[in-house]
Amino acid sequence: MNTVADLKIDLVEVCEAAARACAPYVGSGQKDEGDGLAVDAMRKRINQVKMKGVIVIGEGAKDEAPALYDDEEVGRGDGIGVDIAVDPIEGTNLFARDAAGSIVTLAASPAGTMYRPGSCFYMEKQVYPKAARGKIDPEAPVAVRLSQLAAALGKTVAEITVFVLDKPRHQDLLKEIYGCGAKVRLATDGDVNGAVQAVLNMGSDALFGIGGTPEGIVTACAARAMGAEMFGRMAPQKKFEVELCKKENIDIKRIITRDELVTSDDCMFIATGLTSGEYVNHVKIGVDADGKYMTTDTVVLSGSVGNIRRVQTTLHV
Ligand code: FBP
Repeated sequence: MNTVADLKIDLVEVCEAAARACAPYVGSGQKDEGDGLAVDAMRKRINQVKMKGVIVIGEGAKDEAPALYDDEEVGRGDGIGVDIAVDPIEGTNLFARDAAGSIVTLAASPAGTMYRPGSCFYMEKQVYPKAARGKIDPEAPVAVRLSQLAAALGKTVAEITVFVLDKPRHQDLLKEIYGCGAKVRLATDGDVNGAVQAVLNMGSDALFGIGGTPEGIVTACAARAMGAEMFGRMAPQKKFEVELCKKENIDIKRIITRDELVTSDDCMFIATGLTSGEYVNHVKIGVDADGKYMTTDTVVLSGSVGNIRRVQTTLHV
């Protein structure tokens, strides 16, 4: 086990365990209960993995809600050093309402290669498929970027669909996209899911807009693993966040490239479906002659040349 890629099956099992633990709460309206179960199952399984892991992106500081917390050491403590980003339930509201796009997600890369975002919670993101890599000017107006994307994909701008979170802060962005004649896939939550749709050419051609910085690091691992394109820029939304950025000398004008967000090609992105989705299915719960079972559906993106593995697992529980 000399590379992060070697840990693939173990880390898939981490996500599967989290998905099986929280699946009974899909559509229950109880997001915190589901989250707690997913976190506990994830921690139990990840601590059996032969690695010296550190949670670079978790769910905040220790001792708040049940969470894998930032800087928590995970794994058995032997083997290679690994930076880990986790979101035991990405899209907790989607999970609680059984709406499409909720996933368990984990990203991994060698120790010291994942961007440490500091205190700025929000990041402006642009994500494009591999065909557009190197062909987009991230600082150009939306209309120019859409034309560059359309040319790279061999489509017209009217045939482009951009995934955007349905938030008041995106009103101007939406006007610009619609004004160019492109389509928008609007979702209340889940911009990791939207970005992966773009990276896999499944459902959306790009992701634009402001979402969580932790989700941005996870997304960068997916983009790099697929050879796709991503740009970030810190985008503090609240006054205290602006102050924190000043204090931490965070340049909110600077474009951060994909390869700054994760600096190694040995990176991996894993998503297990909780609710239905474009590239992973929801957890199925059934009963057969051997008793109750659960089937999980997982996608693993790894390397940097677009390696995709799909894992469907049925376990009696
Ligand atoms: P949770 O899984 O924590 O509920 O996050 C969902 C999400 O939609 C992310 O996908 C996105 O990056 C972030 O929230 C956006 O934050 P906000 O809802 O505050 O705009």
